[in-house]
Amino acid sequence: MKKLHLLFLCIAIALAGAVPGLSFELSDISVEGVVYCRCNFTGYAAQVDASPLSGIVASLKCDGGNYHTLVNATTDYSGYFQVSAKVIKKYVGRYCSVYVLSSPLSQCIVPSQLTFAGKGSKLIYEREVPGVGSQYSAGLMLIGPSSSASCHV
Ligand SMILES: *[C@@H]1O[C@H](CO)[C@@H](O)[C@H](O)[C@H]1NC(C)=O
Ligand SMILES: *[C@@H]1O[C@H](CO)[C@@H](O)[C@H](O)[C@H]1NC(C)=O
Repeated sequence: MKKLHLLFLCIAIALAGAVPGLSFELSDISVEGVVYCRCNFTGYAAQVDASPLSGIVASLKCDGGNYHTLVNATTDYSGYFQVSAKVIKKYVGRYCSVYVLSSPLSQCIVPSQLTFAGKGSKLIYEREVPGVGSQYSAGLMLIGPSSSASCHV
């Protein structure tokens, strides 16, 4: 009977190490991305039929078991945003995504797949940056109508 208890104790300890939230090694990461709206504004890029827009709210959200992080950022005039966070690095690929929460123009509709209800944009590892940590990219996210021809400002 004693032996059996010891065995269960060992299994419990082994499991504890594998449960998200019980290992607290946090690393600094930086996430960048670009959001363009499918409208013809200043800086229009024909390749993507869209323009950069400032004031779009993007959000880095990591969600896995006991592990939660949420940091908002706002795009600048070039559609670029950057957020910094402390995260459990091995969970970034699986549990972290960038979502688009709102845009300042009603024409620049946020598609449902980019909201919290959707999948958002997964993060791609880019490089280590001294003093910053691991740099990830959420890529280019497009919002607005299906083409700039149907964007009436
Ligand atoms: C974008 O707008 C500019 C200025 O109004 C216009 O000259 C240009 O033809 C437009 N481009 C497209 C692709 O609609
Ligand atoms: C992020 O932005 C959303 C929408 O503007 C807001 O509801 C939420 O409270 C913000 N969260 C944080 C952590 O700033």
